[in-house]
Amino acid sequence: MENRRVVLASRPAGWVTEDNFRIESATLPSPGEGEVLVKNLWLSLDPYMRGRISEAKSYVKGVELGEVMVGQTVGEVLESKNAKFKKGDHVLTQLGWQLYGVSKEITKVEASRAPLSYYLGVLGMPGMTAYFGLKELGQPKAGETVVVSAASGAVGSVVGQLAKIWGCRAVGIAGGPEKCGYVTRELGFDACVDYKAGNLHRDLKAACPKGVDVLFENVGGEILDSVLRQMNLFSRVVVCGLIAEYNATEPYGYKNMRAVLVNRIRMQGMIVFDWKERYGEALQALAGYLAAGRLKTRESVVQGLENAPRGLISLLKGGNFGKQLVKLA
Ligand SMILES: NC(=O)c1ccc[n+]([C@@H]2O[C@H](COP(=O)([O-])OP(=O)(O)OC[C@H]3O[C@@H](n4cnc5c(N)ncnc54)[C@H](OP(=O)(O)O)[C@@H]3O)[C@@H](O)[C@H]2O)c1
Repeated sequence: MENRRVVLASRPAGWVTEDNFRIESATLPSPGEGEVLVKNLWLSLDPYMRGRISEAKSYVKGVELGEVMVGQTVGEVLESKNAKFKKGDHVLTQLGWQLYGVSKEITKVEASRAPLSYYLGVLGMPGMTAYFGLKELGQPKAGETVVVSAASGAVGSVVGQLAKIWGCRAVGIAGGPEKCGYVTRELGFDACVDYKAGNLHRDLKAACPKGVDVLFENVGGEILDSVLRQMNLFSRVVVCGLIAEYNATEPYGYKNMRAVLVNRIRMQGMIVFDWKERYGEALQALAGYLAAGRLKTRESVVQGLENAPRGLISLLKGGNFGKQLVKLA
C-alpha cells in the first residue's frame, strides 16, 4: 500500500489556485507506541483552510510550504498500538489531506448513530460552531429574529434550524434562488434573502419586520455592514466568519459602526475551540434533533484526494451546497 498526500506548494496571493498544491506519494507510516494507523475515508474542506495557507498571523499556526494540508478526516483504524482503539474502529482525526496517517490524537465515532461524513458536518465542528455560537453568544430568546448569512452552508444551515427549534424567527441570507428555496422549503427557515438579487437592505427589511435581534455572521463585508443598519436595541452579532474577505487583498471598510453605538449592539468574535470541553453536550443535542427529524443536512462531495484543491476553491467561491467533503475511499 502506498500513501498519497497533498502538500502546500506555494502561498496564494488573492484567490487560491490548483497550482498552490502538489500531490505526492509517500511510504505508508507505521504506528509507534500509543498510536494507530488510520485509513482516511472522508476529508472535510473548510473556509478556515484559506487562512492557514496565508502568511497572516491567525489563531492557529499556519501550514508551511511542503507540509501536508491541514484538515479533519473520518477514517478507519487499520492497526492499533493504543489500548483504547482496535482495528475496524471509526475515528475522527486531524490527519489532513492524505490517504493514511498515524496519530494518537483521535476520537472514536459511532457509525451506527449517523453516516460517518456527518461527524465532519452537522455532528462535527460546523455543528458545534452553530450550537455554541448561537446559544452562548447569540443568546436568542423565543420570539426574537435571528439572521444568519451563508445560510445554506454547513454552519449556517444548523444555525437557522436551531433558531427555529429554540422558538425564534429564522431568516437566512444566501446566494441565488436555488439556495434560498432550499433554506426555506427544506430547512424550514421563515424567510431567506438572496443577496445576489441586489436589494439586500430592502429585502432584509421585508423579511425582518421587527428588526434583527441576533446576527450570526459567516460572511462579513457588505452583508455585515448592511445588516448592522437593521439591528435592534441591545441586539447581538456573533462574528463567526468573514468569508467574503478571506481572498481579498485589502480589508473591507465598514461604514455603519455608528449603529453599534446607538443601539448598544454587542459584537463578539467566536472560535469553536473555546468550547472544546463541552463538545459532548453539543453532540448529544444535535444528534437528538437529527434523530427526531428536526435537523436536516446536505452535502457536496468531490471524489478522490486529487480533487481536494478543486473542492476547496469551489467552497471559497460558493460552489458548494451544504457541507463540502472529499470522499477518499
Ligand atoms: N469561528 C469558528 O470557529 C468557525 C468554525 C467554522 C466555520 N467558521 C466560519 O463560518 C463560515 C461558514 O463556514 P462553513 O464551513 O459553514 O462554509 P459554508 O457556509 O458551507 O460555505 C461557504 C459559503 O459562503 C458563502 N460565500 C462565499 N463567499 C461569499 C461572498 N463573497 N459573499 C457572500 N457569501 C459568500 C457561499 O454561500 P452563498 O452561495 O450563499 O454565497 C458558500 O457556499 C465561514 O466564514 C467560516 O470561516 C467559523
